[in-house]
Amino acid sequence: MGFRHKDIIALKDLTKEEITLLLDTADSLSEINQRDIKKVPTLRGKTVINLFYEASTRTRTSFEIAAKRLSADAVNITASTSSVVKGETLSDTANNLLAMKPDIIVMRHAVSGAHEYLAKRVSCSVINAGDGAHEHPSQGLLDMLTMRQKFGKLDGLKVAIIGDITHSRVARSDIYGLTTMGSQVFLAGPPTMMPVGIERLGNVTVCKDMREAVDKADVVMMLRIQLERQGKTLLPSMREYSRYFGLNPEVLGLAKKNAIVMHPGPINRGVELASSVADCDQSAILTQVENGVAVRMAMLYHVCGGEPVE
Ligand code: CP
Repeated sequence: MGFRHKDIIALKDLTKEEITLLLDTADSLSEINQRDIKKVPTLRGKTVINLFYEASTRTRTSFEIAAKRLSADAVNITASTSSVVKGETLSDTANNLLAMKPDIIVMRHAVSGAHEYLAKRVSCSVINAGDGAHEHPSQGLLDMLTMRQKFGKLDGLKVAIIGDITHSRVARSDIYGLTTMGSQVFLAGPPTMMPVGIERLGNVTVCKDMREAVDKADVVMMLRIQLERQGKTLLPSMREYSRYFGLNPEVLGLAKKNAIVMHPGPINRGVELASSVADCDQSAILTQVENGVAVRMAMLYHVCGGEPVE
């Protein structure tokens, strides 16, 4: 089966077979990242523009590395140093970039739905590197790859996702991806950060107490509070948040013995995650970052029409 999409905007749009194809390809391509010479000619002659309207360390760097490891030319544009600060609209920016004939635009934007808008207006592929509180599909894929590598499957895993669910695009992509792949998702967070009706997204259970979500979990995924996307104060204090929704060794002890701790980054140490947990043997946080390169290589490869790789 080939990948039939021009763009990758949301994991909600992908089938189980398509997600499996992307994860299988990422697994195959990850071998390139272990070589002394980390480069193959697969996307030679292709041009990837990374257009970032929001801050990023992991996503932007790994999309650039992914493009370069596949021999594509990668160009980075940060909104704060572009003509966006002079008032240029997204549509005008896109048309001007398109005039330079890129093959793929990878974009991060603060507005949910900005990628759908862009993808309908440009002939090149668009990959979503995060849009508002909507989706972050490459993060969802690298999270699933990390879980699949550890447990050999996604079907039947109990995954606890703890924190600011309302404002987290990572949570939404993880929920869509994991439930499509047959995992059971348990959510916990302050009521002010839990969207009403989130259970309707699939095999999702909302827990009042994070201990219930973490109990016998295979994976504990901790989220940062997205202060940049909250219009008003939704918490009495960070100290109280940490007490009820922070992961410490005692709460982690409720999960399965071989459970892994995950976090999309950046971490707020001492708020959602105790430093001793972030750095413990069960932490898969840096494995997630490592897998981010392979997953983004797979995404670039398949929107360019790549065939399944052995
Ligand atoms: N996980 C993630 O999106 O990190 P960055 O914001 O650093 O890209």
